[in-house]
Amino acid sequence: MPKAGEATTGRDGRTLVVPSYSKWDAGRLMQGDALDFVKKLYLRAKGIGDDLYDSGTYEFTALEPEVYRENLVQYMRRRAWSEWYFGTVSPARQITLLPNDQVDLKLRIARQIRDEMRHYDVFAAQLRRYGSEPRPAEFQLPDILVEMQRVQMEMETAAEIAATNQFAGEVVLSSMTDLDTSIFKRLFDKELMDAIHDIEKDEPHHISIGRDLVLLFSGTFDQRRRLAAAQEQYLRAMMQLHVVEIVKLGCRRVHPLPAFE
Ligand SMILES: [Fe+2]
Ligand SMILES: [Fe+2]
Repeated sequence: MPKAGEATTGRDGRTLVVPSYSKWDAGRLMQGDALDFVKKLYLRAKGIGDDLYDSGTYEFTALEPEVYRENLVQYMRRRAWSEWYFGTVSPARQITLLPNDQVDLKLRIARQIRDEMRHYDVFAAQLRRYGSEPRPAEFQLPDILVEMQRVQMEMETAAEIAATNQFAGEVVLSSMTDLDTSIFKRLFDKELMDAIHDIEKDEPHHISIGRDLVLLFSGTFDQRRRLAAAQEQYLRAMMQLHVVEIVKLGCRRVHPLPAFE
């Protein structure tokens, strides 16, 4: 029997079901200390990443090489745009929203912005290898990416931004490389996979910034509820975008998307 609040598998035996903490009442959500709460949020995002990127949840399809190439370029342009936008605007807002005495956190976030610009350059180099360019100003955002941007922009505190950024998207992305059965090992060539590994080396630092921000501001029921809702909103949109992108690289999703319950 899973413990209350843990991810489970749905009745169909294929759907990952994760807890919707934002709907929990104070009695449940305030059980345990802030660290327990932070662990719950981490495990929820990681569970979704592991499910979304597990090659066992897809079947492979045959794509014409030029269709694959075109879709891969689109994928990498979206990734470059995300490094550019989510990697600068959101952390910059966190720096300004944090109180003046949080010097150490502000410095760590500033270093993250530097890393994210490097990640942008890594994708730019990969795009050039495929004869393209990132051109973020000309990138046409899919509707669901606009939704992810809206969710993150509407956050009002540094911790809530973290719950949609370093402690949501970045946790999910870590499954690209640390999951043995990562589908990307089959969809990407070695050079692109090496580039992803290179980027992912920075992510534990960013995830730990997210953890510390959430930890600092999750003392009350209202804070926990808002953080849980923020993460949930972002993850819901993010998983839709990612599954569509994976499918366009040559497979079919055979499991339903993770569900919040
Ligand atoms: Fe990044
Ligand atoms: Fe990052």
